[in-house]
Amino acid sequence: MSFNVIGTGSAYPVKVVTNDDLAGIVDTSDEWIRTRTGVAERRICTTETITDLALEAAQKALDNAKEYIENIDLIICATISGDYITPSMACILQDKLGLSCPAFDVSAACSGFIYALDIAASYFARGTVRNILIVAADALSKVVDWKDRSTCVLFGDGAAAAVLGKGEGLKAIKLSASGNIEALNLPNIRNVVPWVDKPAENTYFAMNGHDVYKFAVSSMIHNVREVVKMANLSNEEITYVLPHQANIRIIDAAKRRLDIPEDRYYTNIEKFGNMSCVCIPMMLDELNMSGKLRKGDKLVMSAFGGGLTTGACVLEWNG
Ligand SMILES: CC(C)(COP(=O)(O)OP(=O)(O)OC[C@H]1O[C@@H](n2cnc3c(N)ncnc32)[C@H](O)[C@@H]1OP(=O)(O)O)[C@@H](O)C(=O)NCCC(=O)NCCS
Repeated sequence: MSFNVIGTGSAYPVKVVTNDDLAGIVDTSDEWIRTRTGVAERRICTTETITDLALEAAQKALDNAKEYIENIDLIICATISGDYITPSMACILQDKLGLSCPAFDVSAACSGFIYALDIAASYFARGTVRNILIVAADALSKVVDWKDRSTCVLFGDGAAAAVLGKGEGLKAIKLSASGNIEALNLPNIRNVVPWVDKPAENTYFAMNGHDVYKFAVSSMIHNVREVVKMANLSNEEITYVLPHQANIRIIDAAKRRLDIPEDRYYTNIEKFGNMSCVCIPMMLDELNMSGKLRKGDKLVMSAFGGGLTTGACVLEWNG
């Protein structure tokens, strides 16, 4: 027993920040950002919090699932930028949704949604849950250095959710971690202890773009091939590939090496930038809401991110 995705939802901030807006605060241009990353605009939290977006996405997914809320037996949130370290984002949502089930967060950066799916699969395998709510939510706008043009142009904020019910929709899943602080990190060190004689440290998101780029391309190619093989699918049988939206050049480089028809790739990086673990469930929701999914469709999802982590899976759409 694994699960089927029975409902999806997403939410994003009202504030649209264009590349020209960014050119007003750092030395960059629309042309550089579009050609080097594929991003044209992104949404940034201003009047809303990431908790607000997570709640909105969760409510939409629950409405879409048409499932009794009392039948949600677990909430898993994927996030690295929740409004509190404790309580977890999942506990905050549990309270706001009026539920009494267990709830916890998963920290796997951009791979967080796939990590959450894998954890959910083991709960279904044990037969201890009827439905699970997964919410991916990140607002990296809170943690990037808005003076650093090499990172601040890449990210956007958002939230997306999926309700899972009993079923056999998960056809293959694979996670990996390869511990590495240098490539990509977000410190949580404030040095506020009175007996510690150390200056306050930089707590911004930091990244070695070239190293992450190489890791991203090779892991995406390897993981997509592997889960497609695990699921016993031919490339022709894949309906959609939902690749993590970090840089359109990473996706194009993977495309060139993977023998999957060009029209199967779905992207939305142009409108949203990299929303961390939200990218994949947000695309899933876009496909679902626009009526593009049919029963039996095979969806390949592949993510990579801080950790360094990766996660990939094949889901059959039975929603
Ligand atoms: C970050 C990234 C977009 C940089 O693209 P790149 O083509 O490798 O660019 P480089 O870092 O080589 O920089 C090229 C030049 O552009 C400059 N530059 C960097 N950011 C710029 C910006 N926003 N606007 C204008 N110029 C910029 C650099 O300073 C450099 O200038 P120089 O040649 O005078 O030294 C790319 O490496 C990348 O996408 N990496 C992966 C990131 C990722 O996936 N992160 C999330 C993981 S989940």
